[in-house]
Amino acid sequence: MTTPPDFSLPIPSLKDQAKSTALIGYLRAQPMAAKLPFADYMQAVLYHPQWGYYGSGQVQFGAGGDFVTAPERSPLFTLGLVFEWQQAQAAGLGDEVLELGAGSGQLALDFLQETERRGCCPNRYLILEISPALRLRQQQRLRAVLSEPLFARLVWLDSMEQLLPNAPRQPCFAGGMLIANEVLDAMPITRFSWRPGQLDTVQEQRVACDGARFTWVSTEPSQRLLHALRFYADQWPPMSLPEAPVFAEINETLADWLAALNAALSQAAKPTWAYFFDYGGTSSEVYRPDRTDGTLRCHYRHLAHDDPFVYPGLQDITTWVDFEHTARLAAAIGFIVDGTRSQAAWLLGTDVPDQFTRLMNQAADRATSARIAQGFKELVMPTEMGERFRVLRLRVEPA
Ligand SMILES: C[S@@+](CC[C@H](N)C(=O)[O-])C[C@H]1O[C@@H](n2cnc3c(N)ncnc32)[C@H](O)[C@@H]1O
Repeated sequence: MTTPPDFSLPIPSLKDQAKSTALIGYLRAQPMAAKLPFADYMQAVLYHPQWGYYGSGQVQFGAGGDFVTAPERSPLFTLGLVFEWQQAQAAGLGDEVLELGAGSGQLALDFLQETERRGCCPNRYLILEISPALRLRQQQRLRAVLSEPLFARLVWLDSMEQLLPNAPRQPCFAGGMLIANEVLDAMPITRFSWRPGQLDTVQEQRVACDGARFTWVSTEPSQRLLHALRFYADQWPPMSLPEAPVFAEINETLADWLAALNAALSQAAKPTWAYFFDYGGTSSEVYRPDRTDGTLRCHYRHLAHDDPFVYPGLQDITTWVDFEHTARLAAAIGFIVDGTRSQAAWLLGTDVPDQFTRLMNQAADRATSARIAQGFKELVMPTEMGERFRVLRLRVEPA
């Protein structure tokens, strides 16, 4: 390992250590190893098909893994989306669902079973998953659990290009609903230091992968980084800023990614409502001048810390989503922005409170009702996911 195992974290198995060592060797062999852009580092440690955390299927979701996402915490999250789906159908939207980054497949599973129960199954349920190992895991799990006709509604895609008009092997999306839970926060980002909003103070933070340990190295910012930060120029009055620069992160490729998504969705014959769930906030919350070390967080077996160089390929790396900026980019690209709200406000505005009561009344024993109540609490309580997680809804009309 580049860093000796951190005493505050569990020690990985010898097999996992060997996997991480192979990834370290791969990173050291990169042509730009002395100053590797952090986005390239993050791309490799999360998505390398052999050694990456998601790419190789190292990730374990849920209580026994590294972190728990909303659909893993409680089926009530997915019931909120089924409510939205029924609204979308009543409004004449397309009859397909497109899920981005389906993780363990839990949301797809609950969604298909519940819509079948209510007689409103999507015609097709497309999953765009960039991790080959997770695609396989989702396919195996859903094939084992779903009836054959329900499983036949599923289609897997491995890249956005497959959704674009005239793609060679594409099952074009017909419109309907797009769901992306905790996908934006898992995209590679660029790290930098600055006095917030002062573009002439920006320094890019790259990774020195060529020494005994991986470390941060400060470099001049690329034009691409300055371009991505343009929106934030002079948003905070200089006199209110601390003297010393602070660290922060930005997804430089977000605008291009949203543009490709918009092209894919607007070729559909029917409109689509797109839901992006993640933790994050407004620009001023994400880039608060007193936030000295950005929002980058790593998760290893339910322990959160901020060192992305520990256990490369064995831990998750995430950053907060700036929902205000994402919405602004989306509007400029051609999405219709319906707005953002907290996960709690969204869930409480659906029929989930009624569904909660129904499930509680049906619970066979105390242990089951305690589990349902706990799941609901975790989804909506401000101290849990309720306020820290937000949802952005975008709309796309056919071109
Ligand atoms: C944090 S996990 C969330 C999984 C799942 N949505 C959940 O809530 O449990 C991130 C997922 O997004 C996938 N992913 C990351 N970037 C993606 C992209 N650009 N397109 C599609 N999937 C992506 C990862 O492979 C992984 O399945």
